[in-house]
Amino acid sequence: MKTIIEPFRIKSVEPIYFTTKEERKKILAKADYNPFCIPAKDVLIDLLTDSGTSAMSSSQWAGIMLGDESYAGSSSFFKFEDSVKKITGMQYIIPTHQGRAAEKIIFTILGGKGKYFISNTLFDTTRANIEFSGAEGIDCLCEEGKYPNIPAPFKGNIDIDVLRKIIDEKGAANIPMVIITITNNSGGGQPVSMQNIKDTRRICNEYKIPLFIDACRFAENAYFIKLREKGYSNKSVPEIARELFSYADGCTMSAKKDAFANIGGFLAMNDPDLAVRCRNLLVITEGFTTYGGLAGRDLEAIAVGLQEVMEEPYLQYRIRSIEYLSNKLIAAGVPLMQPAGGHAVYLDAKSFLPHIPVDQYPGQSLVCALYEEGGIRSVEIGSLMFGKYDDKGKLIPSQMELVRLAVPRRVYTQSHIDYVAEVIIEVFNRRNEIKGLQITEEAPLLRHFTVKLKPVQEY
Ligand code: F0G
Repeated sequence: MKTIIEPFRIKSVEPIYFTTKEERKKILAKADYNPFCIPAKDVLIDLLTDSGTSAMSSSQWAGIMLGDESYAGSSSFFKFEDSVKKITGMQYIIPTHQGRAAEKIIFTILGGKGKYFISNTLFDTTRANIEFSGAEGIDCLCEEGKYPNIPAPFKGNIDIDVLRKIIDEKGAANIPMVIITITNNSGGGQPVSMQNIKDTRRICNEYKIPLFIDACRFAENAYFIKLREKGYSNKSVPEIARELFSYADGCTMSAKKDAFANIGGFLAMNDPDLAVRCRNLLVITEGFTTYGGLAGRDLEAIAVGLQEVMEEPYLQYRIRSIEYLSNKLIAAGVPLMQPAGGHAVYLDAKSFLPHIPVDQYPGQSLVCALYEEGGIRSVEIGSLMFGKYDDKGKLIPSQMELVRLAVPRRVYTQSHIDYVAEVIIEVFNRRNEIKGLQITEEAPLLRHFTVKLKPVQEY
């Protein structure tokens, strides 16, 4: 097979600034070993997130110029609404300024003390919005999703038996919604199968519980279904997406991912009463119902991006480029989550740095080593992000110590990805020299954003 090439030409470029290893050592120390505190200009390849970092197409930029900034009923809203309806088939489309704003609205309305929301894996902002309402979030990921190095086609699936058990235990009346995250970001960007969505629907019908989809990466998930699930290879991505949404009562969406937009999101649903309640809250917190915190030009960019993201040459290149990086690393023996996810490669820091104990944050140590070696910015998804303390102040570690390298859409070329692989392999080859870190300052909530650390002293 021939090389799968980037299905675009580059019309406008942004410079990357080069730094030396010595400079990066100083930058890292100044940022207290927390790459969230490194100025973006000092990063060579920024794989911190795939959110809001996409390159927009010339059609999207043309849309920006067409943006209708009318307060009410702007023509940009109707294009946006049409585009979302075409994909989801849902009736009520509510724009928000990003995904978590959609979450805030729906969970404020449906959440509250004594309520439970069940998911394959809730993303952190989703869980935070659920908990902020007083409700509880419960993850019930399938067994195969819990082991990074055992490949399986749909490691994002919900565990249907456990789902039923939890519903029986908590009582259907206390469960306002089951929400499936596609692809499963916190579980390695792994897809959910159509069969699993159908089975979840069946159980939701049985217990009369609405089913929602966290649709941030719906196109990547739909493409995985096309590639891996029996009966879908001849269906188009829009057909698969439409079927997938047809099993749901609603969805939340961050347009910063699979809509190629730098900002934006929405809520979509079929229940007219729920839509009225959401819109009433929207007007207080986000804006009028036809702009919801976005400029008309953003709505245009999203309307166009949502259709472009389903083009198969793009998805083939997208999924392939993550797999390409993953394969290079596997060939060099680097431990990582397998198979490759849709938007990111997740290194298994516990196996990468077995000499660093979890309370010296092997994930964060690896994040810092990748920056120092090659100016690559990644993010720890492990005990720094999720760790809690027990009564005696001892760290309760997270289940896995991962480092996520999230690839922005249409931004980097194959040689950038080759460089990333070279840097990781270089760090892997001298992994024994890497030291652990200790925390010097931390916030009580979401500490990873602002935490300060220093290298562990040797005695
Ligand atoms: N749901 C999922 C699955 C996400 O990955 C994100 C964001 C959100 C909801 C919230 O959307 O950022 O627009 O408010 N994920 C980003 C990331 C931040 O880096 O994975 P948002």
